[in-house]
Amino acid sequence: MATKQKLKLSIDQKDLIAWYQENKRTLPWRQNRDPYRIWISEVMLQQTRVTAVIPFYEKFLTRFPTVHSLAKATEGDVIEMWAGLGYYSRARNLHKSAQTLSKSGFLDKAHLLLQLPGFGPYTSRAVSSLAFGEPVGVLDGNVIRVLSRFYGLKLKWWENKEKQKLQDLSDKLALTEFSSDINQGLMELGATICTPQKPLCLLCPWKKRCVAFAEGLVNQIPLPKPKHQFEIWSWTLNPVIKNGKIFMQPNQSTPFLKNMLFPPGSAVAVKKKLVNYDIKHGVTKYDIFIHIEKSSLKSAGPGEWISLQDIKKINPTSLMSKILKFIEK
Ligand code: ADE
Repeated sequence: MATKQKLKLSIDQKDLIAWYQENKRTLPWRQNRDPYRIWISEVMLQQTRVTAVIPFYEKFLTRFPTVHSLAKATEGDVIEMWAGLGYYSRARNLHKSAQTLSKSGFLDKAHLLLQLPGFGPYTSRAVSSLAFGEPVGVLDGNVIRVLSRFYGLKLKWWENKEKQKLQDLSDKLALTEFSSDINQGLMELGATICTPQKPLCLLCPWKKRCVAFAEGLVNQIPLPKPKHQFEIWSWTLNPVIKNGKIFMQPNQSTPFLKNMLFPPGSAVAVKKKLVNYDIKHGVTKYDIFIHIEKSSLKSAGPGEWISLQDIKKINPTSLMSKILKFIEK
């Protein structure tokens, strides 16, 4: 029988693994190596902090304890359980991928997971290494910071070619049977020691060989990502309400909140902030100015009538709450 080749660990790998084993936080997705539980945690953690995620995570797993239960749920049920976490395309992708994984069995390689909706390079690698021990490295904001400082790299890490250099370093570190501990160790180091401000370098397992620490460059690395320009959008919505129901259709008018159900409307990107509007709202890099013009239904296209009481189930966004509040005024 072919035996798996065990590579000798470098001093960097040894120190990181030992530190992680000793210092890891007890977190609900670290109870075992169930790929489903790890996947859900990684998706929730993409845009939300650990402490904020925990209660949502527990609730979500109680409602959908297995990939099969998630696959069988309706999209509305999944969106409802996602309420409060934002970025609802994550919930829709989770639901779609659960349907594939429920049939195929959980895929155990990053390059296979990468084919599924919502699995980018980070999530695919995190799940395959944390759950199955695939020797592939992860790269998220925390890991970019840790590796850039340790190797003393002033890279334009937001550009693909430069980012690839960090991905290669991460892959090299993870090239061991302990890729799960290496990857989680890097994440943990970034979250608790090698923080953006006031890092706790004296507590770092890598301090003796950290280039940024030795050269006093910790506050200059990584380089700050240039801020993206805000986009301003003017969005006119035409809600129609009849007998306690509101007509809703998948939003195709804007690059944000895409495919969420909203009242019919149209939107344009504009140069300047508007002075007159009914609702102002912000989503990621978008400043949104909304006009509400109640209408009678003419050529609204495909959509569905939703009871006003059920709106929160199909669209739990804070923007929809603002719209309803405005309409009910
Ligand atoms: N951030 C992203 N993934 C994480 C994980 N598995 N544990 C803690 N923080 C994380």
